[in-house]
Amino acid sequence: MYKLHNIDGKAKRGELHTVHGVIQTPVFMNVGTAAAIKGAVSTEDLKQVKCQVELSNTYHLHVRPGDGVIRKLGGLHKFMVWDKPILTDSGGFQVFSLTSLRKIKEEGVYFSSHIDGKKIFMGPEESMQIQSNLASTIAMAFDECPPYPATREYMKDSVDRTTRWLVRCKDELNRLNGLDDTINKNQLLFGINQGGTYEDMRIEHAKVISELDLPGYAIGGLAVGESHHEMYRILEAVVPHLPQNKPTYLMGVGTPQNILEAVERGVDFFDCVYPTRNGRHGHVYTNHGKMNMLNAKFELDDRPIEEGCGCPACTTYSRAYIRHLLKAKEMLGMRLCVLHNLYFYNSMMEEIREAIENNRYSDYKAEKLERYNNGN
Ligand code: GUN
Ligand code: ZN
Repeated sequence: MYKLHNIDGKAKRGELHTVHGVIQTPVFMNVGTAAAIKGAVSTEDLKQVKCQVELSNTYHLHVRPGDGVIRKLGGLHKFMVWDKPILTDSGGFQVFSLTSLRKIKEEGVYFSSHIDGKKIFMGPEESMQIQSNLASTIAMAFDECPPYPATREYMKDSVDRTTRWLVRCKDELNRLNGLDDTINKNQLLFGINQGGTYEDMRIEHAKVISELDLPGYAIGGLAVGESHHEMYRILEAVVPHLPQNKPTYLMGVGTPQNILEAVERGVDFFDCVYPTRNGRHGHVYTNHGKMNMLNAKFELDDRPIEEGCGCPACTTYSRAYIRHLLKAKEMLGMRLCVLHNLYFYNSMMEEIREAIENNRYSDYKAEKLERYNNGN
C-alpha cells in the first residue's frame, strides 16, 4: 500500500508498505543483478550505505543458479541474507539486451542464453513463476523493451502485445500468490508503460494499464538512446496519466541530474548501474561533480573522496590510498568507490525526500545541480 505524504509541484513524497518493510520514496534501488552488488559489496555493506531496496534480475537468476535452487533455499531474501525489500526485473529487458537469436511470439520470447547458448523460452507465465520462486517483494511485468528508434507500426504491435502480456502476468501472479507453498503470497506486481518516444501511444497505454489497478507502475523503454530532452518530454506527457496514488518507477535511470529532473516530473522509484559500474572503474560521484580516482593529482592527496561524507570509504581512507589500490588493481579500491557511490545516491534521495517534505524541491534541485555541474 502506497501512502502519499506530500506533493511539492509534481514531486511526490510517499511510502510503500510491503511485507519486507516500508520504502520511503523517492527511492533509488541498488542493483545486484545476479543477487550480488558488483564490486564485492555484501548485504551488510548495503545497510551501511543506506540502501532501502535491492534489485535483482529474473533472467540472470533463472540461468544461474536457477530459480528452483533459490526456492529450495527459501527464496532470494534468505539466499542473499537481505530482509528488506527486493524488486526483481522480469527478464523482459535483459532478454532483449543480452541474448541472441531472439524470436518474439504471442506466447513469449524464444532466445539463447548469454552463458552457454542454451535455448530458453520465457513468456509472462514463466517470468511470474520464476519471480514467485525468487519470492521478491515486487515482481515486474514481463514486457518488451522496444528498440530505439522504432517505427510507429512496430511500436503499436509491441505495446499491444505488452498489454496482453500484462493481463496474463496479473492472472498468473494472482494464481501463484494463492498457492499454499508460495513463499511470498503478498508479492506485488508492477505494470510497465511502453510506447517509445510516441507521446500518444505512451498516454493511451498508461490509461489502459492503469485500469488494471496494480500496486505500482513503471515507465520502461527510456534511456535506450533517445536524448535526455526527449526522455523528460515523455515523462511530462505520461506521468499525469499514471495513478498519482501509486508508485511510479522510471526503469534504468540514471545520472544524478536525470533523477533530479524525473522526481520533479513525479517519478518516485529509480534504479541504475551507474554508481556500481562507474565505481568499479574508479569514477566517483561527489556534490561537486564526478571525479576519476585514477587521476595523478590524487597521488599525495590525503583527504577523503568527499569531505564530510559518512560512507565507509570516506570515514576511513584517503584519496591517495584509494588511487593506489585502483592502480594496483586491488579489489578493495573498486569496493570503496562503489560503497561511496551508493552512499552518494542513497543520500541524495534522502535530501530529495526532505526537500519535498519542506516544499522546497525546486530550490533544492537548482542548488544541487548548480554545485554538481560547476564543481563549486
Ligand atoms: N529496465 C530498463 N528499461 C526496461 C524496460 O523497458 N523493461 C524492463 N522490464 N526492464 C527495464
Ligand atoms: Zn564517501
